[in-house]
Amino acid sequence: MCGIVGVLGNHEVSPQIFDALKRLEYRGYDSAGIATVNRGKLDLRRAVGKLINLSDILVHEPLPGRAGIGHTRWATHGGPSVANAHPHRAGRVAVVHNGIIENFRALREGLGTEGISFSSETDTETIVQLASHYLERGMTPVEAARATLKRLDGAFALAFLFEGEEDMIICARRGSPLCIGHGEGEMYLGSDAIALAEMTDRITYLEEGDWAILSRSGAMIFDAEDSQTNRPVTRINLENAKVDKSGHRHFMAKEMAEQPRVLQAAMGHYAGVGEDNPALPEGLDFSATDRLIMVACGTAYYACQVAKYWFEKYAGLPVELDIASEFRYRDPVLGPANTALFVSQSGETADTLAALRHARPHVAQVVSVINVPTSSIARESAVALPIHAGPEIGVASTKAFTAQLQVLALLALKAGLQRGYLTPDAFAARLSELRAAPGFVAQALDREEEIKRLSELLSQARDVLFLGRGVMYPLALEGALKLKEISYIHAEAYAAGELKHGPIALVDTDLPVIVFAPHDALFEKTASNMQEVLARQGKVILISDAQGLAAAGDVPDRLMMPTVPEIIAPIVYAVPAQLIAYHTALHRGTDVDQPRNLAKSVTVE
Ligand code: F6R
Repeated sequence: MCGIVGVLGNHEVSPQIFDALKRLEYRGYDSAGIATVNRGKLDLRRAVGKLINLSDILVHEPLPGRAGIGHTRWATHGGPSVANAHPHRAGRVAVVHNGIIENFRALREGLGTEGISFSSETDTETIVQLASHYLERGMTPVEAARATLKRLDGAFALAFLFEGEEDMIICARRGSPLCIGHGEGEMYLGSDAIALAEMTDRITYLEEGDWAILSRSGAMIFDAEDSQTNRPVTRINLENAKVDKSGHRHFMAKEMAEQPRVLQAAMGHYAGVGEDNPALPEGLDFSATDRLIMVACGTAYYACQVAKYWFEKYAGLPVELDIASEFRYRDPVLGPANTALFVSQSGETADTLAALRHARPHVAQVVSVINVPTSSIARESAVALPIHAGPEIGVASTKAFTAQLQVLALLALKAGLQRGYLTPDAFAARLSELRAAPGFVAQALDREEEIKRLSELLSQARDVLFLGRGVMYPLALEGALKLKEISYIHAEAYAAGELKHGPIALVDTDLPVIVFAPHDALFEKTASNMQEVLARQGKVILISDAQGLAAAGDVPDRLMMPTVPEIIAPIVYAVPAQLIAYHTALHRGTDVDQPRNLAKSVTVE
């Protein structure tokens, strides 16, 4: 959701900024731009579309300077165009911004009455026009930035660069992430530490409401009350910040292939081999919890939906689920014995973060399952459980989903033990099944060739229906989401039993219907629903294990999965859901890693 970068360097900074933007491109790719100050003069280059377009411009019109800011955009206010691209400039100041300025209309009107005209449709331009206005009235850059920040409502991270100031960038964080990087006589800033990984491993994470004045000799940081403050410098593990495709064609392909290793790592972290009663982080206790409230968005929400079955089955814990963007607008009833659990790969999703803040004062404990341990959601939770998946760059979440499932399953089992709902023997049995997940996921990945063939068929479809029952229902939802987002084929998912209550009207000879149905207690029921589709000449693709396929009889399109213990079936069946979407998208020639209109890390509401 827009990436921002800043560099105060000892040499030309445009290439460094461009490289950092490449690492942030997953956050948005509607347009990109860089501004620098060179010999006191502010100048900028901007281009619509992906970074490659900006690179073409920079080849023909290089941008010299040792101080600069850069931006990669996911459009909110105003479509993708050069005029709407960041950096925005007014007079002697340029700004890059991630987030939304909620009072921009009022500010724009106010500035309009002062005779200031706007050249873009963005909310961001109000920031730069305000700052320029204050500079014109005689304020210093620091005073102008401070006065501007005081006028802004909303959630944002931003950076100012001033004409005539080659040793100063002013940045601020309110609601959107921002970190400062420390170099040798250089200073950097970025939306995340990954952006800065080529430059430094020494990072300061700004806190909510902080703003900072950067110079090459360091950063002066101020809190929301404008008091100068210290924020720690942490060393990040550069290995974890590596972003390359490691020989794969796409990040998504690499991230799917990494799943066995990632799941092993997550398991090793929480429940090493031989640990029969692995400890969860201190303070995490479900024994007095009367209700678990789980909140997330998108794929992370589907992980919660699977986990609801586990917490109910293995811990006897009543669970309520909500999509984060709905949760805080529906007066949810929260109680002092509730545990609220938030799941997010990025840990920065604005809706999930807002939901967490809404719940925190009313519940006993706030827990999160995140991939980025330094993220806002992690930092604002009493207990944060990292999934140890490493950076996920493909916009479609894959390894984070299966790692979320693995950690949530372990959490549900542990809750069952703490609550006396699972005996130690039952706990140990389920735990050893969970430990087998990485091996079975590797076996599922081996089905890629067959999936490629099935996907060719799917790539011709206009619509696809996914069906599943029990934990396979959220898997069907996840399969439909993955297919929609990267192949642009319309897909729907239903709980198989719901089919007859309406959606069966869609079934005809053209509609592929993908059925997730391991041979479990619900298999016969799902198989009956599948027969209802076959009876109407629907094109069924059955994904099941050997027993299921044998029991299903004559289904022409089928995919054989390994026979797996019930608890890990959702983790293993996630693999065909991902591979189907991936190969269908390849057949259709869409942009797998950067699908249209999307961005990773959704930091606007
Ligand atoms: C889909 C996908 C999104 C995210 C959602 C939440 O493939 O990636 O639906 O799952 O935007 O993001 P996080 O997990 O970062 O909160």
